[in-house]
Amino acid sequence: MSTTITEVHARMILDCRGYPTVQVDVVAGGALGRADVPAGRSTGSSEAVELRDGGTAYRGQGVTRALANVNEVIAPAVVGRNAADQPALDRFLRELDGTPGKSRLGANALLGVSLAAARAAAACAGLPLHRYLRADSRVLPVPFVNLINGGKLTSNDLDFQEFICMPVGASTFSEAMRMASECHMALMEIVVSRYGKLAANTGDEGGFATPIVDVREALTVLREGVAAAGYADQMVYALDCAATHLWDAARRVYTVAGKEYTTDELIAFYGELVRDFDIVSIEDPLSEDDWDGWVAITADLGAKGVQLIGDDLFVTNPDLVQRGADLGAANAMLWKVNQIGTLTEALVAADTAFRNGYGVQVSERSGETEDPIIADLVVALNAGQIKTGSPVRGERTAKYNRLFQIEEWLGADAVYAGHDFRRPTALAR
Ligand code: PGA
Ligand code: ZN
Repeated sequence: MSTTITEVHARMILDCRGYPTVQVDVVAGGALGRADVPAGRSTGSSEAVELRDGGTAYRGQGVTRALANVNEVIAPAVVGRNAADQPALDRFLRELDGTPGKSRLGANALLGVSLAAARAAAACAGLPLHRYLRADSRVLPVPFVNLINGGKLTSNDLDFQEFICMPVGASTFSEAMRMASECHMALMEIVVSRYGKLAANTGDEGGFATPIVDVREALTVLREGVAAAGYADQMVYALDCAATHLWDAARRVYTVAGKEYTTDELIAFYGELVRDFDIVSIEDPLSEDDWDGWVAITADLGAKGVQLIGDDLFVTNPDLVQRGADLGAANAMLWKVNQIGTLTEALVAADTAFRNGYGVQVSERSGETEDPIIADLVVALNAGQIKTGSPVRGERTAKYNRLFQIEEWLGADAVYAGHDFRRPTALAR
């Protein structure tokens, strides 16, 4: 059957923040593949370039240049190419752009085409995307459910960005989601009764944007919600500190809740949180520029069994992941396809991580759409862990809902990663 690309078209849609973004249709072998491009706000400085218009329309956030690049430059060049040869297509897209950061055509233009082509090729094969990408895909991820938001994802004064519960003690993905939803409901009652009605407002990823400032208080409240739901024994906890945004590079200090910390002091603070709150995973505990600090925290908390995830540090870039592995910085990567700009490069980054014994956590962006593609991608990778927000807001539930469908499709073949979320490859066999 032909998988030749016959049509490529990009249009503007809105993401969950009301910002314009790119949606691409690729038709190959008569089958339609469609994909949306997400956007970050709490971004790493080495992410591939997202092309925005500037000017006044949408306060500079328009994507008409990226759309024109798809419709006028990329479309005529890729029509006639094979959607089923993703590595060749993505290499071609990169060469067509020709810049290291994908700044000429825009990573948002390239990624839309790359992902839509994968969907079209899967449709030609008559397979769901996860199974098309990998014949042994069967691991359902532990959801890292972000129930309290701070940092750049809200307008409150809580400095760490995400306070997460992880239903590792569930035996299936569906059961994990039931636990997480019940914790969310229980937590809502607690935050409203303690902090007032406005405390149930949510941040960009659906977590409560409570007026809490103190990190320990946020973790205490989160744990109370989990206990009230009856899952104290099934849950462990995670943080995304997004510490690049807490770091003063000139003075080499971090500021958390108004208090200044050196790198060593902040690592000691994390050590106390790990001890007191069952925290098993910390994302971006330190700045993307504080590589020495990353090596130190990995030797300390990493050696004690804590997962340390590089988000801004690695930006889904295989070269940066390899640098981390060579130095002993972090022991897991956050995997966001739009940080690098093509599916193939993101898959190579995940491979690099797995080869070095690093975990891979597939992640949403704060600016998402209803496109659930990361649900298929996390299963395709057998990655074992996904971070896609609270179990509320349509752009977040879209991913969870797609995972329910995949779980049903896999039937008895489905395995829930549970406690093995860092090393799920054995489960895939
Ligand atoms: P972002 O936030 O999508 O705005 O980068 C999420 C994160 O930091 O993990
Ligand atoms: Zn992050």
